[in-house]
Amino acid sequence: VPDRLIDRFGRQVTYVRLSVTDRCDFRCVYCMGERMTFIPRAQLLTLEEMATVGQAFVALGVRKLRITGGEPLVRRNVISLIRQLGRLPGLEELTLTTNGSQLERLARPLCDAGVKRINISLDSLDPQHFRRITRIGDLSKVLRGIDAALAAGFERIKLNTVAIRDRGDDEVLALLDFVLARDMDITFIEQMPAGVDDEALAPAFVSSAEVLDLIRSRHDVVATDETTGGPARYYRIPGKATRIGFISPRSHSFCERCNRVRVTTEGKLLLCLGQEQSVDLKQVLRAHPGDLIRLKRTIAAAMELKPRGHDFNLPQDRGVAVRPMSATGG
Ligand code: GTP
Ligand code: 5AD
Ligand code: SF4
Repeated sequence: VPDRLIDRFGRQVTYVRLSVTDRCDFRCVYCMGERMTFIPRAQLLTLEEMATVGQAFVALGVRKLRITGGEPLVRRNVISLIRQLGRLPGLEELTLTTNGSQLERLARPLCDAGVKRINISLDSLDPQHFRRITRIGDLSKVLRGIDAALAAGFERIKLNTVAIRDRGDDEVLALLDFVLARDMDITFIEQMPAGVDDEALAPAFVSSAEVLDLIRSRHDVVATDETTGGPARYYRIPGKATRIGFISPRSHSFCERCNRVRVTTEGKLLLCLGQEQSVDLKQVLRAHPGDLIRLKRTIAAAMELKPRGHDFNLPQDRGVAVRPMSATGG
């Protein structure tokens, strides 16, 4: 069994996004339908199985694990999984992406479990607009969650904001002021096809360039070559701690430098966010319990299937989602 994961294009996989649930307490319009049927619990990996998957990946040279969902913090006992993963020798970063709804209760336990940096999705500071985007989310709860995260002592907190048309320019600038005042980071994300209402959502697309222009109209910004190991490109306002990131899958494909794969909550290893290639790890885990070598071999062999990249580039193509975004947590 090799000790590193290298694909056919010479890219090394060092980052795994582990989805711990497809459920969520929000229904963001660009992620989920209004009515969702979730995966029956019996089909989900157990937390023990997820810990084993994490262990296998770290043994294969993975340095960064990100817990995703749906909303990861609605999975019962997720903190115990995080604590276990946090103890894996060789793991450099354990982190998660959350909608913030449970942070009031869980920020401190997460910090204690070894999470140093978290990403919180927040698209608007306007309560009504926030409700329209999330359909059922409560902004005040998320804001209390952010306060709890700031108090808990994470090294860095980043907001993730999907760029969408019907949010006014003032809202983008308000979000920026919000992070500047708190020494937090922010990343603006280009909307991708999500497998629900894609036709209806397409007109809402806003490019990173447009958001950057808007920010430039108000602030001095300079590009940096800092990275957080994900696809964001960062800018800074001189003299400020805040990093302003852009994730531009549609206007600037970053697939060439892809360093990541995903594992769904059903134990499917997905080789690309925008493509279908996958390998069933659950089957291996259940047919051969405790056989870490077999699991590692299966993962290593899967690297042959990793495609060159996704196909949702602008402008020719609006793109098609191959699965709901909620199945992978982005
Ligand atoms: P950092 O560790 O802070 O760099 O996080 P990250 O950007 O890797 O993770 P996060 O969960 O915050 O993801 C932000 C957005 O980037 C989500 O909308 C993801 O879907 C998107 N994203 C992450 N990786 C990929 C990728 O491989 N391809 C595409 N198209 N989008 C991605
Ligand atoms: N396009 C871009 N980003 C999306 N996210 C969810 N759905 C989409 C989409 N269709 C983002 C969330 C969260 C991250 C994990 O993915 O806002 O920040
Ligand atoms: Fe839930 Fe995140 Fe999807 Fe919104 S984007 S519905 S918060 S999983």
